[in-house]
Amino acid sequence: MQKIIAANWKMYKTRDQAAQCAEALADALRTAPANPAVLVFAPFTCLDVVAKAFAAIPALAAGAQDCYPADEGAFTGEISPLMLRDAGAAWVLVGHSERRHVLGEDDALVARKTTFALEKGLSVMLCVGETLEEREAGALTAVLQRQLESVFDALPQSRRDALEGHFAVAYEPVWAIGTGRVAGHAEVLEAHALVRNLLARCIGPAAERLPVLYGGSVKPANAAGLMGLDNVDGLLVGGASLDPQSFLQIVGA
Ligand code: PGA
Repeated sequence: MQKIIAANWKMYKTRDQAAQCAEALADALRTAPANPAVLVFAPFTCLDVVAKAFAAIPALAAGAQDCYPADEGAFTGEISPLMLRDAGAAWVLVGHSERRHVLGEDDALVARKTTFALEKGLSVMLCVGETLEEREAGALTAVLQRQLESVFDALPQSRRDALEGHFAVAYEPVWAIGTGRVAGHAEVLEAHALVRNLLARCIGPAAERLPVLYGGSVKPANAAGLMGLDNVDGLLVGGASLDPQSFLQIVGA
């Protein structure tokens, strides 16, 4: 199984700061094997500097944090997969909880973005996860099912058959993101087993080969424990990825 350790820099870092951080990662991982893959989801304005620092390093790739499902057009403020690839992105995050809950994206838009980005040659990391309210209402399964099925229902069969190496799911309980409250191992095991089963219902046995990452208050101190859990094939790291030394400790775990 391909493992992935991913950094989500969110709306942090100027181009100079991004270059410094990317170069520190490049220096540390220049000769590292390509498994685990180490991805950095950088702000749009930093994509080119990150991609340049990572060029020709097998373990490292740059990604964007969002995209719009059109090649070009009158979509003020949006950015297309073609533009992201042109800036050096190989991956894109789709449906991050901050896009869903702060910016108001719904499942239909997340599905359109996923299909379009894959069609345009970007690899997609689809983020799913329940709010605290949904969890307390016993809606974990229903939420994950809705978030995953809406994407796969929109995906043509030919795409579903070609996801390996180009698609990953990040399970991020919304109540654990940026709160310092990491999900307990039992909660992670339950949710990841659910995601794996739902994936299998959508695409069959190939689900076994799609990485499922955990995200939400991952730190150097809890990374190894999380990576040791069944069905956890990687980590998506926000706050603790901003400092290259702390992120490298997580990669090393
Ligand atoms: P966090 O963010 O690690 O700061 O909780 C994770 C994410 O939003 O991807």
